[in-house]
Amino acid sequence: MIADPNTHQPVDITESIEAFFWHPVGQSSEFLSQQSKAVSLLGVELVVWRDSHQQISVMLDQCPHRGAKLSLGQVVQDQIICPYHGWRFSSSGQCSQIPALPEFSPGTKHCAKTFQAKEQYGLVWVRLLAEHPDLAQNETLQLSSFFPQFLASQDSHLRSVLCGPYTVQSSAPRLVENFLDMAHFSFVHEGYLGDAQLPQVANYEVALVAGTLKASSCKAWQPQSNAHSTQSALIEYEYYLDHPFSAVLSKVPPNGASAKDNYRESIALWICPETPTRCKVWFTLAVADFESEDAVFQAFQDTIFLQDQPILESQKPALLPVYQDTELHCAADKTSAMYRRLLKQWGIRFGVC
Ligand code: FES
Ligand SMILES: [Fe+2]
Repeated sequence: MIADPNTHQPVDITESIEAFFWHPVGQSSEFLSQQSKAVSLLGVELVVWRDSHQQISVMLDQCPHRGAKLSLGQVVQDQIICPYHGWRFSSSGQCSQIPALPEFSPGTKHCAKTFQAKEQYGLVWVRLLAEHPDLAQNETLQLSSFFPQFLASQDSHLRSVLCGPYTVQSSAPRLVENFLDMAHFSFVHEGYLGDAQLPQVANYEVALVAGTLKASSCKAWQPQSNAHSTQSALIEYEYYLDHPFSAVLSKVPPNGASAKDNYRESIALWICPETPTRCKVWFTLAVADFESEDAVFQAFQDTIFLQDQPILESQKPALLPVYQDTELHCAADKTSAMYRRLLKQWGIRFGVC
């Protein structure tokens, strides 16, 4: 249980708006046929398992009989078997067999709690709540897809490379805000995304359009903006955010600043908020380069993110102060201010204070 930042009353996160958004819980490649794996999402322990037809199932990692962890059991013949008394559950959650009572046919009450799952961007996504009662009243939410859009992944001129996961002891909103923040480039990413002599952030545009945050004309002087860059260049960014814990940035280096002609890239940030202050993080780099090894991009992303990580883990509080206005702001932070406003409008309570 987490506490509501406004009322301080306990909140059941599986009934909250966060639970209506889709969140990644792991890479598709981690979940092998006829095997199960334990994951955490929004403080809820889940078991994810794949059947022989490659179908993913997600259940509460707590057997409805006596509460044992289903993830300690086996997947046999497209059913998960509880390790304690051997009850078998199909992907619909229905119990098909109770070994202690071979003559008994379990009824519809005998079922495990299941959740929706799908695979996209090389990740398994889960949502804990299929319907939300407040949607009709919340205009901002009605306009959102609840699943983050990443148009670059459908662009045939770009190829996607998944980087991560990184486990970070911080909240998902702190991670998103760091991704949207340009004023840290000259300090945290000196020599890569920023130049210590040029820390100023020029004015840029930020707007909420149809429930989506967009920042444009964001410019940064970057000594090495990507894995192929050959010289410093003024790079123009755009940010796009339609999900509380995911965001996308696109950048196009000017011609001549990269070893590849017409190089451009979009980077998506994906977060699994495991607990309010612990996350698993991936990035998808959609790059105009079909030749280089994935490892080239993964190494560059590792370098950049490992510079961010100690700062992120040092921030106090680890929860993003959205409801308590306890931090100072400046004009360079207007994307972050808009993000905080959007979290409030959506009614997000996980990872914030
Ligand atoms: S606790 Fe799972 S079968 Fe008894
Ligand atoms: Fe950074």
